[in-house]
Amino acid sequence: MKRSRRRFLITLGVLAGAGVSVGALYRKGLRYPPLQFDPEPVVTQAELPGYRISAVGAFIQPGDNGVPRYRAFEPQPRLLIEANQSTVFTLQLGNLHPAAVLDTNAGARLTEQTQGLTRELSGRLEVGGRTRLQWRMPSPNAYRFTAIGDSGGGTELQWALQRSVQLNAGFVIHLGDLNYGQDDLKKAVQALEAASIPVYVAIGNHDFHQDGRSVHQFFTTYIGPRNGTFELGGVRFLNFDTAADAFPSEMGARGRLIRRLPSLREPQPGFREYVAFTHRPLTNPPASTAGEIEHAVGRREAGWLRDQLLQRGAQTLLAGHIHISTEFEDRGLKTFISGQGLAHADLIVGRPVARILVGEVGPGAPVRYSWSDLKMPFEAHCSPRGWTVLESLGKHEDKARLGQVCG
Ligand SMILES: [Fe+2]
Repeated sequence: MKRSRRRFLITLGVLAGAGVSVGALYRKGLRYPPLQFDPEPVVTQAELPGYRISAVGAFIQPGDNGVPRYRAFEPQPRLLIEANQSTVFTLQLGNLHPAAVLDTNAGARLTEQTQGLTRELSGRLEVGGRTRLQWRMPSPNAYRFTAIGDSGGGTELQWALQRSVQLNAGFVIHLGDLNYGQDDLKKAVQALEAASIPVYVAIGNHDFHQDGRSVHQFFTTYIGPRNGTFELGGVRFLNFDTAADAFPSEMGARGRLIRRLPSLREPQPGFREYVAFTHRPLTNPPASTAGEIEHAVGRREAGWLRDQLLQRGAQTLLAGHIHISTEFEDRGLKTFISGQGLAHADLIVGRPVARILVGEVGPGAPVRYSWSDLKMPFEAHCSPRGWTVLESLGKHEDKARLGQVCG
């Protein structure tokens, strides 16, 4: 970690020597690795012949046959459609809970069809017409969610989503690292599209950079924003990007989002509690649970983030990155690490021991957290990393069996 920081500073010096504006650098913020400005956020507006769509809580993905396709990154997204000519429109919105109910001013001029987590909407617009669409959860004050990271994009991810349904979760918070190998991000997109409940994802270091290259554009095109916030039932969730070092800590899209967040020192209309989630923890857990390796965000950046969260009254942080399940106190910030998405502990110990975090929201009460067994079946361990673990443990019979079940 120290060596990577030194390399970052040297590269920064080279960049400054090359005449990159310090003003631009300060405004946009730098990320490392690989050295770059903070990337562009997701796209939420679409211009189409005759009308425009603006979204809050959803972003636009590449669609089929010219049909605009949005993906929700919160349970109750909103769309505004504004027409500048009389026209007929069709659009799709994915990652929406099947129970979410559409509230609109469009009346009978709109039709909505549900298929899995996708809604397809079509309707007629008059010149100057404005159609508002908002989806609402029927019981927003009582729900459950799961949180887990570090699954890769294959069968282990599919199992984590399936297990979350078994646990009666209304949605999954994925804590990052969907991308552990070739085509993992594409497989992850397929798994997310096939999911039975919505998934909101924090970007992991492997989703941001791979072999010295940036891969985050795929993430923000198909999976979700690197930074975002939403409320449900009095709880405000904050997803923030720790996938690569940020300099200065307060700049870029993450800094802008966090600086705008209201503080719970004053009563806030609509929410009473923050749940912050990200990929890398702000501090290392006790060495007894995670070893001596440095896993956390750099000390200066972590200090800024922790101060900002605490100033706003956030008391809980959910993170992944370390492939363990544990919880500890970090100077006022209760930190849960739920990084057993590959369930390698099961392979090492020889029985199911990996866990998934469950959050329970009830009317007016703080979120209650508990750990549940992940119960990953042996045949879900199909990532090449699982094979490496079995190889290194000398479990050749298990490796051969896995080879058979995974094809
Ligand atoms: Fe990671």
